[in-house]
Amino acid sequence: MTAIKGILTAIPVLALAAAAAWGDEMGKQDYMQGCAGCHGESGLGQGPVADLLNVPVPDLTHLSAANGGEFPMLKVIHIIDGRTGMRAHGGPMPIWGAVFKAEAEGASGLYGGDEAVTRGRILSIAYYLESIQQ
Ligand code: HEC
Repeated sequence: MTAIKGILTAIPVLALAAAAAWGDEMGKQDYMQGCAGCHGESGLGQGPVADLLNVPVPDLTHLSAANGGEFPMLKVIHIIDGRTGMRAHGGPMPIWGAVFKAEAEGASGLYGGDEAVTRGRILSIAYYLESIQQ
């Protein structure tokens, strides 16, 4: 009985761990394609495009450190999404929520269409960023 209970509790935990690992990998790909140009491959803010901007590009490896040691997941999700008004400064960062949504147009599936794909990609990038915190 306890063994079964153990297995039953282990399944969701494993599924979560797998989802997070998958998120990291997907997010890493999107990061390298869409973010590294400005924020740098290592996230330190020294991508090749950074020199062309007239605003400093922030280091993304110290978001937790700047937030009392806790990764500011929700804030990061909103900043990447860009559609929620959280990014008050309206800086040079593309509105990724809109970009991903346009790319996902026509998507359909069990968990919803383009909006679900969009949020999944944003979440994956946020997981990836969480994984590179120093
Ligand atoms: C065109 C250059 C550019 C690209 C591409 C870009 N960013 Fe940014 N990012 C910036 C700049 C400049 C800032 C600071 C000013 C601002 O927020 O607009 C910033 C700010 C941020 C912040 C807030 C950091 C803080 O300290 O509060 C996060 C998080 C972030 N970017 C993540 C991303 C992610 C993830 C991607 C890719 C999906 C991305 N950025 C793509 C230029 C860029």
